[in-house]
Amino acid sequence: MRIYKMKDYSEMSRKAANILSAQVILKPDCVLGLATGSTPIGTYEKLVEWYEKGDLDFSEVKTVNLDEYKGLDASNDQSYYYFMHKHLFGKVNIDLKNVNVPNGMEPDAEKECARYEEKVCQLGGVDIQLLGLGHNGHIGFNEPNTEFDRRTHCVDLTKSTIEANKRFFASEEEVPRQAYTMGIGTIMQAKKILMIVSGKDKAEIVKKAFCGPITPEVPASVLQLHPEVILVGDEEALRLL
Ligand code: F6R
Repeated sequence: MRIYKMKDYSEMSRKAANILSAQVILKPDCVLGLATGSTPIGTYEKLVEWYEKGDLDFSEVKTVNLDEYKGLDASNDQSYYYFMHKHLFGKVNIDLKNVNVPNGMEPDAEKECARYEEKVCQLGGVDIQLLGLGHNGHIGFNEPNTEFDRRTHCVDLTKSTIEANKRFFASEEEVPRQAYTMGIGTIMQAKKILMIVSGKDKAEIVKKAFCGPITPEVPASVLQLHPEVILVGDEEALRLL
């Protein structure tokens, strides 16, 4: 495992973007595994900046996202597809046919999860998977006590997640109750993992995930078993390592 301790969020973002762009330059038709959330926004900004300067070409890149809310379509501003389009896909020369996000509008969970797994497989697997880290150690929507061998599946969102998300919707009824997520088994098959963490509120969980016991109670602790993990964090998030 390689750890890069960077000064702040901006330096963390630059380093993570450096690593992703190295992958794109070395293998122009690579498969990037992508994440949403607040942590990767700066990383995507850097990739867009370097694309605009002419240093990066996404024309052959393929992407697979970790997760999506069930019941939200791509045009809903709370959907993860919308997020990705806003921060990356709509700003670089990626071919939208090469972009993959679970289809939140497919009501048949079994069908959609099987389709997504098959897609990842058809693409030849993920070359590098970008991950953020939840305060409880979750990766993707894999909450504590998810089995480590799960593949893409449909999860029921916890009460606290629904509660936390309701501020983004007109009413609580509109908050999605379920989501599709790659499973830990799917994530662990990526050739490389790039985890990014920022802020002092992540310090405790970073320590638990990377220095504590490997346990489903802390889903990210499974990454200790992956042969190629790169952890990029700012000083505050990595201060307990
Ligand atoms: C996002 C995702 C989540 C986030 C995690 C951290 O696609 O799957 O696991 O990576 O919740 O979120 P932030 O970056 O907002 O702290």
